[in-house]
Amino acid sequence: MTDDDDNGLEGVVAAHTVLSEVDGAAGRLVLRGHALDDIAGRWRYEEVLALLWQDFFAQLPAAPELALALGHARTDVAALLRADDRATLSALTPLEAMRALLARVPDGDDLPTALRLVAAPVVFTAAVLRWKAGEPALAPEPEASHAADFLRMVSGRPATSAQAAALDAYLVTVADHGLNASTFAARVVASTGAGLASAVLAGLSALKGPLHGGAPGPVLDMLDAIGHADAAAGWLEAALDRGERLMGFGHRIYRVRDPRADALKKALRGLAQAGGVEAGRVALAEAVERAALASLQARKPGRVLETNVEFYTALLLEAVGLPREAFTAVFAAGRVGGWVAHAREQVQRGRLIRPQSVYVGPAPAAATRMAEPAAV
Ligand code: CMC
Repeated sequence: MTDDDDNGLEGVVAAHTVLSEVDGAAGRLVLRGHALDDIAGRWRYEEVLALLWQDFFAQLPAAPELALALGHARTDVAALLRADDRATLSALTPLEAMRALLARVPDGDDLPTALRLVAAPVVFTAAVLRWKAGEPALAPEPEASHAADFLRMVSGRPATSAQAAALDAYLVTVADHGLNASTFAARVVASTGAGLASAVLAGLSALKGPLHGGAPGPVLDMLDAIGHADAAAGWLEAALDRGERLMGFGHRIYRVRDPRADALKKALRGLAQAGGVEAGRVALAEAVERAALASLQARKPGRVLETNVEFYTALLLEAVGLPREAFTAVFAAGRVGGWVAHAREQVQRGRLIRPQSVYVGPAPAAATRMAEPAAV
C-alpha cells in the first residue's frame, strides 16, 4: 500500500452482518430478510426495531410491548434535560445540541440503555426546536407511537395519522444501510467494549459532516431557487454548466435505482392525498426530478444517475413540519436503531477492530538521534 491508496476503504469487507444488504446492482435494500419495498409504509419504526434487535438482547419483547417501553424511555430521557439547557444549548445547531445531550445517557449494553438511545434523538431534537422557537419543551406521551409523539413534541399539536405514517415510512427507510460511515464508526467504538451510548455518540458524530448526513437541506434550497416548474430545465442546465452537482441525484452504490427514494416518494404521495402537503410542492418536485433526470441522462449517457434518498427525504420532512436545520438530527432518529443493532452484533460476533497503517513519514536521521546517556 502507498499513500495513493487511501481510498476510504472502498471494496474492503470489514464485517459480516445479518442486518442489511445494500444491493447496488439490483437496486434493492434488504433489512434482515425483508425487502424495504415490502415494509416501508406498512411497518412502524418500533416493528423494525423488533426486527433488527432480535437475538441481540435477552427477552426482547414483541413490537407492541417494545413500543410502550420506548415510550417510557422517552420519559426517562426527558428527565435528563436541565433547567439551564434552554439558555446554553438553543444557540447550537440541533445536531450539536443533541450531541451534548446524548452524552448524558449512561453507558450500558442492555435493552433499557438501547431504548433510551433510540428515544434520545426525538426527545432532544424536539426540545431544541421548541427552545429555538421561544417555547418550552413538551413532555413525552409514552402511549403514543414514536413518530407521532415526536411530531407532537415539535409542533405542540397532535400529528395527523397521515403525518405520523409518513414519518414512520421515513424512519423505517433510513433505519439501516450496510456499513456506511456512521455505522462503521459505531462498530469500531463498540468493538472496544465501550458500551452502546459511546457507540451511538460515535455514529452521531459521523453524521455531522456534509458527506454523510447533509444533502436534504440543499435539495430544498434548490427547489426554492427554481421556484416554478417552467424554470426547472433552464436552472438545472445552468447549474450543470457551472460544474455543480444536482443535489438528490446519483449514488456511489445504487446503479439502477435507490429503493429508498421510491419508498419515500410513495409515502409523500400518500401524505399529499391526505391533504398533508402544500399544494403545488409535489408537482414542482416531480417537474424538477423529471428535468434533472433528463439533463443528467443527456450529459452522462453511459451512466445511470437516478433520484437518491435525499431528494424525497427533503420533501417528506418538510411536509410533516420539520425545519431543514433539523434534517440531520431527524436522520439520526432513524439510523440510531441500526447503530444499536450493529454495535450489539459487533460485540457478540466480532473482534476489536484494529486495521494497520503503513508509515510513509521520514526515517529518523542519524545526526538527530539522542546521544546514549553515559554509564554511571
Ligand atoms: N449531478 C451532476 N453530476 C453528477 C451527479 C449529480 N448529482 N452525480 C454524479 N455526477 C457525475 C459525476 O460528476 C461524474 O462525472 P465525471 O465522470 O465527468 O466526473 C459522473 O456523474 C459519475 O459519478 P459517480 O461516480 O456515479 O458518482 P460518485 O460515486 O463519485 O458520487 C454522489 C456519488 C452521491 C456523491 C454523487 O452522485 C453526488 O454528488 N450527488 C449529489 C449529492 C447527493 O445527492 N448526495 C446524497 C447521496 S445519497 C446518501 C447516502 O446514501 O449516503
